[in-house]
Amino acid sequence: MSEEVALENLSYEDRAFAPSPEFVAQANATPALFEAAEKDRLQFWADQAAELHWDQKWNQVLDWQIPFAKWFIGGKLNAAYNCLDRHVNEGRGDRVAFYFEGEPGDTKVYTYKDMLREVSKAANALTELGIKSGDRVAIYLPMIPEAAIAMLACARIGAAHSVVFGGFSADSLSARINDATAKLVITSDGGFRRGAPFALKPAVDEAVKTTPSVENVLVVKRTGQESTMGAKDIWWHELIEKQSDQHTAEFFDSEHVLFILYTSGTTAKPKGIFHTTGGYLTQAAFTHKMVFDLKPAKDVYWCTADIGWITGHSYVVYGPMANGATQVMYEGTPDTPTKSRIFEIIEKYKVSILYTAPTLIRTWMKWGAEFPNSCDLTSLRLLGSVGEPINPEAWMWYREVIGGNRCPIVDTWWQTETGAILISPLPGITATKPGSAMGTLPGIVGKVIDDEEREVGNGGAGYLVLTQPWPSMLRGIWGEPERYAETYWSRFAEKYFAGDGAKLDKDGAIWLLGRVDDVMNVSGHRISTTEVESALVSHPAVAESAVVGAKDEMTGQAIVAFVILRGGVEHHEGEALVKELRDHVAKEIGPIAKPRQIVVVNELPKTRSGKIMRRLLRDVAENRAVGDSTTLADPNVMKLIQSGLSAGKSED
Ligand code: PRX
Repeated sequence: MSEEVALENLSYEDRAFAPSPEFVAQANATPALFEAAEKDRLQFWADQAAELHWDQKWNQVLDWQIPFAKWFIGGKLNAAYNCLDRHVNEGRGDRVAFYFEGEPGDTKVYTYKDMLREVSKAANALTELGIKSGDRVAIYLPMIPEAAIAMLACARIGAAHSVVFGGFSADSLSARINDATAKLVITSDGGFRRGAPFALKPAVDEAVKTTPSVENVLVVKRTGQESTMGAKDIWWHELIEKQSDQHTAEFFDSEHVLFILYTSGTTAKPKGIFHTTGGYLTQAAFTHKMVFDLKPAKDVYWCTADIGWITGHSYVVYGPMANGATQVMYEGTPDTPTKSRIFEIIEKYKVSILYTAPTLIRTWMKWGAEFPNSCDLTSLRLLGSVGEPINPEAWMWYREVIGGNRCPIVDTWWQTETGAILISPLPGITATKPGSAMGTLPGIVGKVIDDEEREVGNGGAGYLVLTQPWPSMLRGIWGEPERYAETYWSRFAEKYFAGDGAKLDKDGAIWLLGRVDDVMNVSGHRISTTEVESALVSHPAVAESAVVGAKDEMTGQAIVAFVILRGGVEHHEGEALVKELRDHVAKEIGPIAKPRQIVVVNELPKTRSGKIMRRLLRDVAENRAVGDSTTLADPNVMKLIQSGLSAGKSED
């Protein structure tokens, strides 16, 4: 490992939980899957693709011109047709697609027939607004059914959606709209969160001042708050109600762009990761069925992720709906009105499969077992985790308190870029170890290698790479073709480097060790250090800043910022200034990027070539002895920073 990569290989885990014989007997996944993939990987993926409805079958499974993959070439399909019409046509139209639970307690049930009707109307509405195949549509909505309806309506007419998480600021939204040159924004007046309405429309109003490509803004009425409607603005319900509920889906090329989703990279500019239709849908559906052991006619599945993240795309919309799953969708926060809210919803809808993030599990642990214990959680039969490494302690708590020691846990590793789960136990096959994502799924070829690209072998730690293409892999970075090869395929020859460190234990199980670059993972959301630094420096008081992710009990990592003030700005404005800076970051990027702590310093540790040594700052932020600092241009700087930390510390 290079000295810049500070990855731990300290923990040791000996516990393993084999699936019960009853679970094994009914499991979707069997060892035959591994055998089939091993024997003929492409045929294996072709078999999975054949589970979908294709209007025209492909004539070639894979075209691999490293690093550019095309899957199911010549095939034609429609993602929305697969998620809706197919179920209705095959007699599953009355099955519930969504039990929607609003935060204030309002509820709504949508069957697959209802969803087809709503999506058809929305597709007609988009067409009326001049949206065509190949256009881009930005979606900026809370977690309400219209979010899924809007996404599927775009897919139905071949327009690529770019969902922007509702927690992002106006600036972040306009940057994403401009990058994709979106013609339409779909938003709402607001949503409900923590017991009160919050507004979304004002951020859109602000954003569209600087987005010349936007022709219209469609506004869903969710809260009934006062909204100013400008010349481009149209109420969703007014436009939708006049549309026919019939819409004939057109079929698109397998490699037709399905969506763009922006994610943080190591530079300030977010990357527009884009996915195409056939390969993405194949793998989203396959993994959803196997990893979660979905029994569509029986299970009630609940993925708590917001639609604004890849998990909401692959495991709320496309995977589960392609499989005809019945889902719960919840708008709000887990502690409104009480800390039992999630558990009450599980009890109410008899949720059988729960997919959530370690940050929420740790929050529940902090609140205490009395909340889950006050509800009947016996409907649960499988639990999933995603977004960041789950520490063994949280895993065990999840198993015992939420899963009643009876539910297999699937710790699923993947990324916005991978489109679908690549590493995970398969329930019914894998004996799981608390904290480990265990192994690659059938059809996936991954390795852990060292700096010299040698496999580390059991007991070793290194870089996680993928050596063969997979159907749902990203096809590129929107508008930046060179950046794709450069970002993912250049560090190691002919290998996709995911940016994560991993170790293999003595049995060869994979343990994810977090990002080896400077991307932070806060509550399962990837945030780049550079983006936060840029936001800080955009404040008139800040000259320079360096940001690191420090371990945090609740959020996995928390943002700690070191800032150098501009000349003339008094240090002792202290607390007020720190608060102002934190709010400034929230405004620039969104509340999720607010630093937990801001330390005012006079110097930053830099190498002679001027590269900030974040590794040393991370040591300070995590209260560790500072590591090797011999390559520092000024060896005294760390002492000064440490004394500054004790003087200028601020937290809330
Ligand atoms: O560092 C890994 C971490 O989240 C990153 C991907 O973030 P994003 O694209 O936002 O997608 C999150 C949801 C798939 C990865 O590079 N990560 C994701 N899942 C896990 C994980 N780290 C450890 N264990 C996981 N199960």
